[in-house]
Amino acid sequence: MFDYTVVHARQSVGYKHLIKAAQSLRCSNVNTSALRLFQFELAHNRRKRMMKKMSEKQERVVVRGLRDVAAAETKISYVNSNGTLYYLGYDIDDLVERVCYEEVAHLLLYNKLPNAKELDEFRSRLVSEMKLPQRVIKRIRVAPKNCHPMEVLRSEVSHLSEYDPHPNDHSDAANKRRAIELVAKVPTIVATLHRTRTDQQLVAPNQEYGFAENFLYLFKGKTADHQEKEAIDRFMTLHADHGFNASTFAARVTASTNSDIYSAITSAVGTLKGPLHGGACEKVMLMLDDINTEEEVEEYIQGMLDDQKKIMGFGHRVYKAEDPRTKHLRSIAENLCHRTATLNLYNTCMKIENVVHDKKKIFPNVDFYAAVVLNALGVPKEFFTPFFASSRTLGWTTHVIEQYQDAVLLRPSSEYIGEFGRSFVPIERR
Ligand code: CMC
Repeated sequence: MFDYTVVHARQSVGYKHLIKAAQSLRCSNVNTSALRLFQFELAHNRRKRMMKKMSEKQERVVVRGLRDVAAAETKISYVNSNGTLYYLGYDIDDLVERVCYEEVAHLLLYNKLPNAKELDEFRSRLVSEMKLPQRVIKRIRVAPKNCHPMEVLRSEVSHLSEYDPHPNDHSDAANKRRAIELVAKVPTIVATLHRTRTDQQLVAPNQEYGFAENFLYLFKGKTADHQEKEAIDRFMTLHADHGFNASTFAARVTASTNSDIYSAITSAVGTLKGPLHGGACEKVMLMLDDINTEEEVEEYIQGMLDDQKKIMGFGHRVYKAEDPRTKHLRSIAENLCHRTATLNLYNTCMKIENVVHDKKKIFPNVDFYAAVVLNALGVPKEFFTPFFASSRTLGWTTHVIEQYQDAVLLRPSSEYIGEFGRSFVPIERR
């Protein structure tokens, strides 16, 4: 009689294989229907094993919100949950009060802090690249006034690609050149939009000024004093890069298809706009406008939490301790509020910080005090996120270049949870 256990032991699961196995075992009396049943059992078990494996795999693969998923390797910035941030190996705390934004730009784009001569040349190049093509200025002038500045910025970044003199040059050098142009021109787009919307004369960049200082100069039309210059330099330095945040990831996904850098930065601007990301900064100011006195804080925050609303400028996907940028922005905000006699606003922020921490055990993120800093610098709240974008273009472009070097398509899979087997109904019978 055919010995199924021997066949099983030989792992011959197909019907033909079973027959062969039986023959090789010299079994004359092969009961084919029993064999079929045996084959069915083996196939059924195999399917069960596969399903089990798949469901184990599902638990491993579907990571909602991509929380804690490392999507690629990077050498640009290091973000740690315990509240540390490094740019190319330098602790942000060691940089922020000692370097200007151009030095950070040089560090990110050339992987080294510049010496005095390099910094001079690089600053001069950045400032001369701040000029916009006339047609971009024209388009900014006619942008509908009800469009959010981030919408205009998104369109004009995209338009910049039309002025690339060598669009088919995909070399590293050409992409660095584009990165420098984007880093320089994005702030000018923002400033031009503000000036034209408020019917003010456009101001040309000044080679005597630093890059961040020029941005404020182009925006406000007057030379920044020492404290303002320091504040904008630090603001931009603190916003220069931040690991695989949503907008940087969006830029890298676009770049990973070998699309151009302008498309990647356009994706990033659109992603930063959302209130869970860079758009939070503007919402912080709306909240601060709503709270009239320190005494109202407790009730206001409790009301928001009771309504299941998020407090803008609080919480973070990565940091479980305080965001390492917050202490710097808090201190800049305090200094600026002193001089603009808006210390009550600063005190209200401190109160909000304490109340939110007491109730939710979460900390302010970069957007909370950034709102206070920009407000004290005289920036209207709808331009807060464009200021963030103007600083982060540096990080985005650096990541895009790194992504081109990695040369891998970023394309995750999804877990289908929809229906199967729906019967098709022709249109005339629907
Ligand atoms: N207000 C109230 N509760 C919050 C907040 C908040 N701002 N942030 C997190 N929580 C709570 C959340 O409700 C949850 O509580 P529970 O466990 O009781 O349900 C817990 O903290 C964990 O939050 P989460 O939503 O799982 O965290 P996440 O990693 O998905 O979200 C976040 C991160 C930044 C989207 C979120 O904190 C948030 O919406 N913050 C407000 C918007 C904001 O400030 N965005 C700027 C982010 S940082 C800078 C930037 O990217 O621009």
